[in-house]
Amino acid sequence: MIVTIANQKGGVGKTTTVVNLATALASIDKKVLVLDMDPQYNSSMSFNAYNPKFSIYRVFSNEVDVNTAIKKSQIPNLDIISSCEDLAAAEYELADDENRNFLLKNHISNIKRNYDYVFIDTPPTLGLLTISSLTASDEILIPVQCEFFALEGLSKLIKTIDAIKSNLNTNLKLNGIILTMYDKRNSLSSLIESEAREYFETNVYKFNVPRNVTLSEAPSHGLPAIIYDLKCSGSQAYIALAKEFLERSTSQSG
Ligand SMILES: Nc1ncnc2c1ncn2[C@@H]1O[C@H](COP(=O)(O)OP(=O)(O)O)[C@@H](O)[C@H]1O
Ligand SMILES: [Mg+2]
Repeated sequence: MIVTIANQKGGVGKTTTVVNLATALASIDKKVLVLDMDPQYNSSMSFNAYNPKFSIYRVFSNEVDVNTAIKKSQIPNLDIISSCEDLAAAEYELADDENRNFLLKNHISNIKRNYDYVFIDTPPTLGLLTISSLTASDEILIPVQCEFFALEGLSKLIKTIDAIKSNLNTNLKLNGIILTMYDKRNSLSSLIESEAREYFETNVYKFNVPRNVTLSEAPSHGLPAIIYDLKCSGSQAYIALAKEFLERSTSQSG
């Protein structure tokens, strides 16, 4: 199953969610691939796996076969395709290619069967990189930061998903919404939470991700937080979310 993690807002926890959810699932013996589609390559760096010569951009430009671009990470069961800065240019370079929205889908359709889960990390835009990720995906997972205006951006994202469903990928499903950087001492967090739960109902994951400094420190060590410090509140939250993710994906596919 291919899951894109998207939200056109930056800094909401997309990369942190990809990295830790993927690691949590790999640690319970799921075969996982992380595909970094963000030209800022933060998830590649978080796994210490930045590899511009074998990036997804080189696959798009037909310099590298997708199977060659797949590299093992230092986490067992977890492979990664790196991103690189040049990927930002793909938007312009492919502007005249009528098939551009399906390019990623065509490249990864054959590798999908080798994995239980493929997680695609995306940039903070609703341009080609995010749209082609959603076109290639079975599900979308949306991290939402517990802050003011968080829900406003969400309605635009939901409209984009609907447009993709009618034009590019009729099978795309919403896996769920994860509330991130939840601060229980801040009343705004609980306000955003109750609004999100009222409006999006059971689409919102039961567990929130707390604001936790270890989650932000782990990438500088080139390690996912749940490897760097399993006991911290952020790691524990992502382990709980991984269980909920499994429940949601089996109940939806079955
Ligand atoms: N739950 C959290 N608590 C504290 N810091 C977090 C949390 N989630 C993410 N961060 C930090 O916030 C910043 C943005 O998160 P990131 O996952 O990179 O967001 P995005 O990929 O949406 O831009 C990063 O520095 C990250 O380490
Ligand atoms: Mg990111």
